[in-house]
Amino acid sequence: MTVLRAATPADDIAEVLIDEQAIAAKVRGLGAAISDDYRGKDLVLVSILKGALPFLADLMRQMPIPLALDFLEVSSYGEATESSGNVRILKDLAKSIEGRDVVVVEDILDTGQTLSYVIEHLRSKQPASVRLCTLLDKPARRIVPIRIDYRGFEIPDKFVVGYGLDYAERYRNLPFIGVLKPEVYRGEP
Ligand code: IMP
Ligand code: MG
Repeated sequence: MTVLRAATPADDIAEVLIDEQAIAAKVRGLGAAISDDYRGKDLVLVSILKGALPFLADLMRQMPIPLALDFLEVSSYGEATESSGNVRILKDLAKSIEGRDVVVVEDILDTGQTLSYVIEHLRSKQPASVRLCTLLDKPARRIVPIRIDYRGFEIPDKFVVGYGLDYAERYRNLPFIGVLKPEVYRGEP
């Protein structure tokens, strides 16, 4: 069955929450802060596919220090807008992080269920340290408390898309972060 949607992803956006310029300025600041803290260390940026991809790509280019990348993929919501709390590792790291300094680069911290699982999983591999960098933080919905070492923006309790964030795998390519029109996920005309 074909689902009819707007011709352009941007047509489904009710409101731009964070525009491209604001994202770029914040990413520059985060890149500088992490670089200052990890100069001379064996840094591995661990990112969670796929939502953090644009953020990671922009962040690492604001970091003029040696670093390596690795990736995890975890089970997601499917087509729902709520986390199930039932997290599974779909793709594990390619290389050992034992004795190395890890910064997890994530798009959004919502209930915290995904990241608490991921951070425990990473700690079991005996890295020297694990810290968290998240572009967005939605504290209103937190279930599992998590320490954020580098935070981009605190956002209200709204479902957002763009700059890597999806709804049913769409809208990741929007260059800004916006709030989806509610009728899009309610399936109304
Ligand atoms: P948590 O386990 O509830 O913290 O969910 C974290 C994951 O849910 C993120 O990595 C996103 O993939 C997804 N997520 C949470 N909130 C949003 C949102 O507002 N828009 C899009 N994806 C979201
Ligand atoms: Mg994600």
